Amino acid sequence: MNSTRHGHRPLGIIVILCLNGVALVSAVAFYTEKPDFLPSCRIYEPGFTKCSTNSIQKLLDQLNIGIPEVVERFGPFDPMKVRDIVFKQDNNEVATIRANLTELVVKGFSKTNVKESRVSKKDFGWQTKLFLPKMRLDGKYDMAGRILLIPLSGSGKIFIEIDDMDILLLTKTRLYEKGGFTFDNVTSVRVQQLKLTKVRTYLDNLFNGRSKEVERSTNQFFNENWRDFYEALKPLIIETVENILYDVMSTVFHLIPANFFVEDIPTPQQLYGPKKIS
Ligand SMILES: *[C@@H]1O[C@H](CO)[C@@H](O)[C@H](O)[C@H]1NC(C)=O
Ligand SMILES: *[C@@H]1O[C@H](CO)[C@@H](O)[C@H](O)[C@H]1NC(C)=O
Repeated sequence: MNSTRHGHRPLGIIVILCLNGVALVSAVAFYTEKPDFLPSCRIYEPGFTKCSTNSIQKLLDQLNIGIPEVVERFGPFDPMKVRDIVFKQDNNEVATIRANLTELVVKGFSKTNVKESRVSKKDFGWQTKLFLPKMRLDGKYDMAGRILLIPLSGSGKIFIEIDDMDILLLTKTRLYEKGGFTFDNVTSVRVQQLKLTKVRTYLDNLFNGRSKEVERSTNQFFNENWRDFYEALKPLIIETVENILYDVMSTVFHLIPANFFVEDIPTPQQLYGPKKIS
């Protein structure tokens, strides 16, 4: 019976009309019925964290299959295109670098394992433990500065490959009402902790191709001393992960009501008090 609904998900549409000289129409689509892939979880009942963990895993699995409204905005989930990163690190023991990363593609998020998803009863933000067996970042870099005392300046292709990544993520949210449902407005996504077992990397055209031999030995040096090299790149890796998860989560939670993840979530009025303008 449920299969007949496949591909016919009911969507609510709110149309905002602004008429001051010019008519501006903005349509906001959202789910009005709980999608079949999501289990029912209630935060004021026992076993919620286990249920919620499963629910977020199911959401990630579905993102991998493809949620049309998310695909429309960001393309496929894995490999996924990522925003450019402008990276600057000053006065650090291991690195002083400026780097621009463009044409970034990240692979590996489809294998994400949700280890735990805890939701706060106080503010309904959530803490998520994720495990990625492998993440690979491919792109173009433009870099100037030094890492591990080695002066670097060059531009070209870069890849960073990470094994066994444990991520502890904190998501902040502000609840709002839309069409009679409670929604999450994701306001921030922060990586609180990042652990991994190995980083491999290659920066093509280091030193602007002046010496292939020095380029090779420098890359080799980075891989042999990957722990130090990783410390230098850590803020960049964290920013990449935060960007991806913020973009995806904020889109998903404007689309799917919070009620479908936490059935007994309070309304914004119940949580923040009546008619308080924030
Ligand atoms: C990176 O981009 C900025 C502006 O987009 C530019 O000023 C800078 O020179 C670029 N290169 C590096 C290595 O920062
Ligand atoms: C979500 O939060 C942002 C920033 O705090 C705000 O600009 C935006 O209007 C909010 N969206 C909704 C639908 O509440």
